Amino acid sequence: MSTTAESKLFAISLATLQPTEAVDWDLYILPRDTDQHILYRASKYPFHAKDLQRLLESGVTKLYIPREERASYQEYLRENLDAWLENSAIPPIERMETLNQVMRGVLNDSFRKPDTDKVVNRTIQFGRQAAAFLESETIRFDDLVRVLQHDYTTFTHSANVCYYAVLLAKSLGYEGDDLTQIATGALLHDMGKLDVDQHLLTKEHRLSEAETRQMQKHPTLGFRRLCRQDDLSAGQLMMVYQHHERLDGGGYPVGLPDDEIHPWAKICSVVDVFDALTSDRSYRVALDYDTAMESIERDANLAFDAEMLACWKQLISTNVGS
Ligand SMILES: [Fe+2]
Repeated sequence: MSTTAESKLFAISLATLQPTEAVDWDLYILPRDTDQHILYRASKYPFHAKDLQRLLESGVTKLYIPREERASYQEYLRENLDAWLENSAIPPIERMETLNQVMRGVLNDSFRKPDTDKVVNRTIQFGRQAAAFLESETIRFDDLVRVLQHDYTTFTHSANVCYYAVLLAKSLGYEGDDLTQIATGALLHDMGKLDVDQHLLTKEHRLSEAETRQMQKHPTLGFRRLCRQDDLSAGQLMMVYQHHERLDGGGYPVGLPDDEIHPWAKICSVVDVFDALTSDRSYRVALDYDTAMESIERDANLAFDAEMLACWKQLISTNVGS
């Protein structure tokens, strides 16, 4: 058996592996009570259902693969995601965790080299998968939050806003294709941030006035990037363009009044702020739900739709989908 330095490996959830006639990567295992990874199965050897079962029965939940295989692993996950999400033998929260892992990985890569066609293409796929999964499964909101990341990078935030927007929309009575479109619109809502100075996104102190003005261009920049995409609807584009508008007309980029803000943009704005407040920022730690909700509720009927806020408050204290 060979050993490999931990820094050259990364952990993958055992649950993400499908039995196969030929594994694509060397798989390593970390035996209990040791810190030495050992080779479990070399690439090109089969990994059968009985192997998977044996590992699970012995309490193994993770295997390790070489870091240089990360892109290949990510592609593998993406290709198998539909089968994975529909596998009712796996607990919903584990499927959710995998969906999030794949979505964040792909969004991270896509947002680094923003090719708009490719990003739209990928987000349509993930929007469909996230909406279908969250429409049909019941998971506790606490559990959902536990498997999400809260680092407020644009790709993490976009994924979180997507899940939250689907849940809120579902509670408000939306279903089917509307939920799918809302999921994709939410994934794209901050795409304009890719066109502002990147150092503003991670600045340790609050932004200056000039910097704030620059940041506030992101809805317009996102809309410009996406407005010629035939696969996106008007509602989705309004999620991008209007998610920082306020009911009292004090938002940006236009300062639209309540009745001119698209309802999907209003959904997006509630969950956008909730995720922002409950994520760690460079200048403050994440707020707990109650403190975040108290802060948001102060803006009921001023910035946010009061019915949507009440619905969101109810949702975060109960089982999602029940
Ligand atoms: Fe935004």
